Amino acid sequence: MRKDISLDLGKATAFAPEATLGAFAARTAECNDALHNGTGRGSDFLGWLNLPKSLTDAQLSEIEESARVLRENCEIVVVIGIGGSYLGAKAVIDALSGSFDWLEKDRKNPVVLYAGQNIGEDYIFELQQLLRGRRFGIICISKSGTTTEPALAFRLLKTQLEEQQGVDAARRLIVCVTDRSRGALRTLATQEGYRTFVIEDNVGGRYSVLTPVGLLPIAVAGFDIRALIAGAARMQELCADSVPYEENLAAQYAAVRNALYAGGKKIEILVNFHPRLHYFSEWWKQLYGESEGKEHKGIFPASVDFTTDLHSMGQWIQDGERTVFETVISVEKMRHEVRIPANDANLDGLNFLSGRRVDEVNKMAELGTMIAHVDGGVPNLKIVMPELDEYCLGQLIYFFEKACGISGYLLGINPFDQPGVEAYKKNMFALLGKPGYEKETDAIKKRL
Ligand code: PA5
Repeated sequence: MRKDISLDLGKATAFAPEATLGAFAARTAECNDALHNGTGRGSDFLGWLNLPKSLTDAQLSEIEESARVLRENCEIVVVIGIGGSYLGAKAVIDALSGSFDWLEKDRKNPVVLYAGQNIGEDYIFELQQLLRGRRFGIICISKSGTTTEPALAFRLLKTQLEEQQGVDAARRLIVCVTDRSRGALRTLATQEGYRTFVIEDNVGGRYSVLTPVGLLPIAVAGFDIRALIAGAARMQELCADSVPYEENLAAQYAAVRNALYAGGKKIEILVNFHPRLHYFSEWWKQLYGESEGKEHKGIFPASVDFTTDLHSMGQWIQDGERTVFETVISVEKMRHEVRIPANDANLDGLNFLSGRRVDEVNKMAELGTMIAHVDGGVPNLKIVMPELDEYCLGQLIYFFEKACGISGYLLGINPFDQPGVEAYKKNMFALLGKPGYEKETDAIKKRL
C-alpha cells in the first residue's frame, strides 16, 4: 500500500479563534454532502467529483493509443489551450519531467510545448521558427471551442503544419479536445476529420485535468496516466462525504483556510521547495482564484518558489502586512541523491556539511522558514507528499479540487462559474471591431 499525502495543521489552527474554526468545521459535512447530492450552487458542473473512479479502462486506452500515434510521429507536440485547458497538463508534466530533459539529444518522449496561452506576437513567431522543418503535432484544447487565444494559435500552427507536411499528413497529427457538439472547434474538427476527445458539459475547465484535457498531453509526454488516476481515486475515497471531519483532509483544509480568512488573512501563499512544482502553483492559483474570487470576496491565491523567492518575497512575508498565510507543499523523498563534497581549503566554510545531502539543507531551510514565518505571525499549513510521482500528484490534484468545492460553499459563492472572465473579452472584441459588437465598439471608442 502506498503512503498517502497528509496535512499538518499544527502551525495554523492557533491563529484562528477556536469558535470560528469549529463553526466552519461543523459546516464542512453539509458542504461535502451538497457536492455529492448536487444541491449546492453550480451543481451542473460536478462531473469532476467522480471522475477518477468513473474513468474506464477503455477510455484510458483510447487516450493512450492517441498519445502513442503522436509520440511515434512527432519530436514536438504543441498543446494549444488557455486557463483550465492547459494549466493542469503543464503542472503535471513539469512536476514529473527532469529539469533539463528538453536538452537531451536522444529523447524517448516528444517535447511538449504550449501555445494559445497568451497573445504574445514574439512568442508565436519564435515558436513558428522553432517548429520550422521539425516533425510536430498539435493537441488543440478548448471546451467552448470559441476562445480567441487558442483559436488564433490553432489557425497559425495548423497552417504551418499543413504547409510542412501536406494536408493529409497534418490531419493525422492534429487531435482536438472540445465540446461534444457545440463550438467552432467541434465544427472544424468534424469538417477536417480530426481525431477528437470530448470534454463533458458537467466538467469546468479548471476541474478538467483528469479528463483528456490533461491526460492526453500527460500521456504524450510519456507519463503514467493510470497511476495519476489511481492516486486521484484514492483521494476520492479519503475525502468522500462519508469520511468525518477529523479524518477528511479536504474538509480540514477548507475549514482552516476559511477560518483564517474570516480573521483577516486575506492572502494564501502556496509555497514549494521543489522547483518542478512552479506550474503546479499556477494550476492551483487558477483553481482557487477563478472558483472563489466572486461577489467581492475570496482569498487571493498567490505562490512562491522557495528558497529562490526567500531572497525576494521572503522579506514581505516575514515582515509585511499580516494578512497572509502559507500552505507549504513539502516533498519527502527526492528522486536523486547529491552529497556535498569535503574541501581541504574550506574557503567557503561549508565543510560542516560535507557528506550530507543537498536535500537535508533544503529541508532545514524549509523548517527554518516555517519557524521564522510562524514567529512572524504567518499561519502555516503543510501538505506532505511522499514523492513527486504520478500517484501522489493524482492525490494532490483531487485533494485541492475537493477542498475547493467545499471551501467555495463555506464562503457562500458558486465555485464552478467564472462570470468575471467575460468582461475583458467583450471590450477586446469591441476594440477589434468584431462583427456583432458594433454598439459596444461605438461606446468604448467614446471612452478612449
Ligand atoms: O477554467 C475555466 O473555465 C477557464 O480557465 C477556461 O478553461 C479557459 O477560459 C479556456 O476556455 P476554453 O477551454 O473554453 O477555451
